Amino acid sequence: MGNSREVVVTGGGTGIGYAVAAAFAEAGDRVTITGRREQVLTEAATLLGARPVVFDAADAAAVEAALEELPGRVDVLVNNAGGNTDFVDGDGDGAGLAGFAAAFERNLRSNVVSAALVTHALGERLADDARIVTIGSIAARTGAGSYGAAKAAVEAWNISVAQEFGARGITANVVAPGLIGETEFFHSKLSDRRREWLIGNTMNKRPGTPEDVAAVVTFLASPAAGHVTGQVVHVNGGAHLGK
Ligand SMILES: NC(=O)c1ccc[n+]([C@@H]2O[C@H](COP(=O)([O-])OP(=O)(O)OC[C@H]3O[C@@H](n4cnc5c(N)ncnc54)[C@H](OP(=O)(O)O)[C@@H]3O)[C@@H](O)[C@H]2O)c1
Repeated sequence: MGNSREVVVTGGGTGIGYAVAAAFAEAGDRVTITGRREQVLTEAATLLGARPVVFDAADAAAVEAALEELPGRVDVLVNNAGGNTDFVDGDGDGAGLAGFAAAFERNLRSNVVSAALVTHALGERLADDARIVTIGSIAARTGAGSYGAAKAAVEAWNISVAQEFGARGITANVVAPGLIGETEFFHSKLSDRRREWLIGNTMNKRPGTPEDVAAVVTFLASPAAGHVTGQVVHVNGGAHLGK
């Protein structure tokens, strides 16, 4: 693999994905970043020296259409696209139980269906000894409604990915962050009180940074991490003790 790796980071235009893409780019890898907002993505790609490919990772037809722009061989796939869709406009969800179902499904699509679609679509392009890293969340263990349920599903799905590709030396792991600052995740919906409470839950009394997460992702993507697979690695300052 060395310096010639082909890396795909979904949601690489902002936050954690941007930091992950930057870490690979700095290491000399060829990096493709994806996302839905063309301008955000192209600006980030210019700064990173990466290639932007615009598509909605939660939409099967869009993923399929994007395949011709994605690399023909993939050494590292980072399924980072996602977020708590309860924080963004749900006007189209409708009322009553149908609206509740639509909102619930948005989180599932955004976080677990997206990762599964991109991994499935790129499966045949994964090189032997490739690395798959999917961004989960502390919410899989602590709650947060349909978002937590979606991230818990990511953990279970990851095990089957590790089983499916393991014989080829390919690893699949989840990195589960706690509160990470400098991202668009909360869409201005995190109160100071809640933020202080989340920081108070950590042992090191600070929020995480996108670089804290990127450091773990790059380790899991390294040749040295070849015997680490099917795991969830927690990056949360001890706010939750992953077991
Ligand atoms: N920040 C935290 O505290 C925290 C904690 C635990 C886990 N996480 C997880 O970390 C990951 C990265 O989030 P972040 O914190 O860096 O927030 P962020 O800045 O909002 O980044 C999310 C990125 O994913 C892209 N994205 C979202 N849905 C997508 C879709 N359907 N198709 C393609 N791209 C999509 C977004 O771009 P577009 O909108 O342009 O598509 C955006 O660039 C997420 O999976 C999130 O759940 C974050």
